[in-house]
Amino acid sequence: MKRIGILTAGGDTPALNATIHGVVTRANQLKVEVIGLIKGFNCLFNPRVPHVQLNPLFQAIPELDPTKGGTLIGSSRDFVDPEKTEDLDMVVSRLKQLGIEGLICVGGDGTLNGLQPLAERLPVVLAPKTIDNDLGLNYASEPDEWVRAADPTSRTGYRYKQSESRAVFDLNHIINYVTPGYATSVFVSAGGVERIRTTAESHRRIAIIEVMGRHSGYIALGSAYGQPDIILVPEIAPDLELLVAQVKHLYDLQKNVVIVCGEGIVDEQGRELGAESKSTDPAGNLILSGAAEALRAKLIQMIGDKYFQLYRRGDSAKEAIFTRKVGHTQRGGRPILFDRFYAAMQGAKAVDLLVEGRNNAVSILQYHSSRGFYVEGYDANRFRDRWGLIHARKMHPSLYDPKLMKPSKLGIEYLLPIFTDAIGLDDMEHMRRTLFAAGNLSQPYHSINTDVHKRIRYLTGALAK
Ligand code: F6P
Repeated sequence: MKRIGILTAGGDTPALNATIHGVVTRANQLKVEVIGLIKGFNCLFNPRVPHVQLNPLFQAIPELDPTKGGTLIGSSRDFVDPEKTEDLDMVVSRLKQLGIEGLICVGGDGTLNGLQPLAERLPVVLAPKTIDNDLGLNYASEPDEWVRAADPTSRTGYRYKQSESRAVFDLNHIINYVTPGYATSVFVSAGGVERIRTTAESHRRIAIIEVMGRHSGYIALGSAYGQPDIILVPEIAPDLELLVAQVKHLYDLQKNVVIVCGEGIVDEQGRELGAESKSTDPAGNLILSGAAEALRAKLIQMIGDKYFQLYRRGDSAKEAIFTRKVGHTQRGGRPILFDRFYAAMQGAKAVDLLVEGRNNAVSILQYHSSRGFYVEGYDANRFRDRWGLIHARKMHPSLYDPKLMKPSKLGIEYLLPIFTDAIGLDDMEHMRRTLFAAGNLSQPYHSINTDVHKRIRYLTGALAK
């Protein structure tokens, strides 16, 4: 294989450039050219196919910095509709016009679904990324547990449900233990929780902090490192009576409470508390916008003003209970060491997979208690259910203790290998040296897009069909 393409699709993560760096470093060793496709699949719908060569003369371009968050080649949520065969043919013909013999998509479960029909036309592999940590399987047989139930209210006429599992959950057998981007998002979220605590303590307040993760509770689980009092995850509907009792108990004792909730938390009927309106993004994902606010409304109603007045800690429940979203800060900025290192390894593995002739494979990160972390190739087909769909991984419920509303013993065991040495010395040193650098005040921000733009090339003339 002489020339491969790479694109980054879906929401950005801090580790994308690290993955691309791993791809380019391995490709340089193997003397393979790497073409970066600009803005994910969007580039392939543009007849000019904007692209950039990432390793001219088999050297990485200097803009490719694995310690920078985001992606130097840009990303979008555009995807190739598997029903539209003409679009698929067009995309593949454009890739071939660029001389691309194999494609690496850096993405999550949506991207992996999207590349299934492409893999019937051109070798494609996935290098995973997602802060949500929802690309993977709790055990190899998990896709077989999905069943379809008729649902006339749904657009497709059915909905998917995961049936009761017959597998024993074992941390050593998780497929794709953790995804690039997750560690940094937890680093930011846990830090946010720690910081909000002191305000809650000083002002006798109850803080509800919403973290991302869609329908998967891994980021909320990891935020336990910031020592919130209560964590709510989307996989397990909170018992509101128990929650209120626990909040009151803690508030009596310490005059403040910090609650973390995943944006996808549901009520006992399984309805997302945060889905204020049923809107979706271009890839069809439900936009979750108000879990913390919805939870606040419930606590205000269930605890009431009198409780706070009694303690002279506020005039009303509204005043005492506040919400904050960690928001996109948990998806941006410099990746911490764990993310940088393993993202690069997975990027390099993706190149190996293509060069070895694998198609529709995923470079996964495995963990075994006796061996530590290691990368492997895994057939994407094994992620698919019997109808061919790849589902986002949910956090296994045994990682969470619904009574304590915190990580269970197994949840703690899950987190430890990822986070114990996740922060590099250079991560802290970097902040020390750069955040208050005098030049930050006098110089305008220099965007990587400005430099990459100068390198962008297009398909021209008759080729640009
Ligand atoms: O999938 C990554 C993610 O950050 C989710 O956790 C979140 O729900 C969503 O993307 C937000 O998407 P956007 O940046 O398009 O608002």
